[in-house]
Amino acid sequence: MSTQLEKIKIAAQIIKNGGIVVFPTETVYGLGADAFNEKAVEKIFKVKKRPFNDPLILHVSNKEWVFKLVENVPKIAVELMDKFWPGPLTLIFKKSKIVPDITTAGLPTVAIRMPKNSVSLKLIKYSQTPIAAPSANLFGKPSATKMEHVIKDLGNKVDFILDGGEPLIGIESTILDLTKSPPELLRAGALPIKEIASIVDIKISGHGRAVRSPGMFPKHYSPKAKLIVVKKRDEIVSYIQKLAQKYKKEGKKVGILSTEENKNKYSSKFCVKGFGEKYQNLYSALREFDTEGIKIIIAEGVEENGLGLAVMDRLYKASGKWTN
Ligand code: TXA
Ligand code: MG
Repeated sequence: MSTQLEKIKIAAQIIKNGGIVVFPTETVYGLGADAFNEKAVEKIFKVKKRPFNDPLILHVSNKEWVFKLVENVPKIAVELMDKFWPGPLTLIFKKSKIVPDITTAGLPTVAIRMPKNSVSLKLIKYSQTPIAAPSANLFGKPSATKMEHVIKDLGNKVDFILDGGEPLIGIESTILDLTKSPPELLRAGALPIKEIASIVDIKISGHGRAVRSPGMFPKHYSPKAKLIVVKKRDEIVSYIQKLAQKYKKEGKKVGILSTEENKNKYSSKFCVKGFGEKYQNLYSALREFDTEGIKIIIAEGVEENGLGLAVMDRLYKASGKWTN
């Protein structure tokens, strides 16, 4: 048995040789390749069945890389990096010439983040290159937050899989576009907006959750089942149970995605799964409903602040509604 460090070194060598590797970040699993190797990056798109107009995030292990990958680094970026990196904040900059077009889907901009996970940081360090990586799931599916999701979606199609060790947050990074003035939120995520707003005023559209990043389409993060999101309201448990009963009468297999606090209040005749303490089970619950043949999922809405904002954004996208 090799030690974790030996595995990381093997994975890094594979990245250097143009292979693709699944690795954990603090948010979700990523599928990585050398950001400068166009053939390797192309493999990522193909394996995920991801459209080529959906750009990738570059993962770095030190801030110095940003100055090479970016045309000009605004002062505010330095403040944000100092405060939140390593961590779940992705920043969008005007790209320098060394970043290949395939990595940024032909955009003049590049997305960069420094993950806060010791395995990913070591992997990037030993690879001696920025690692371009989307989430390690098939395109359109919920992001992979457990090893079993990775195996199911990508199992034998990648060159190496590194396991996590540390628990994942379970929601992707927050994306902030620094090429806009004021900086604009492109995706609500694991870093709460309030924290960013304590440093810089940002523009937020789309019901406070975000505008759309390129390549992100309605119906994203989706299970196969039809998903209905019920906004947070009084008596939400009895409201959802009535709705569930109605579908059950129609002969449909119904699942309820519940907050942790209400999980035990639902009747045991329904298939109920909880978000988990900090919502970390959101994506695994959606995947499990599919595996269990659930046809309709009714999700309990949560307060739209902190991580809850990102959770509601993902639920609406998974339900096929872009905003709401
Ligand atoms: O937490 C995360 O961000 C995870 C982990 C693996 O780092 N990554 C992730 O990657 O969620 P992905 O590819 O699933 O989502 C990245 C999003 C895409 O919606 C893409 O459109 C956006 O980032 N993006 C990438 N480059 C961009 C750019 N230059 N301008 C605007 N949006 C960009
Ligand atoms: Mg993704």
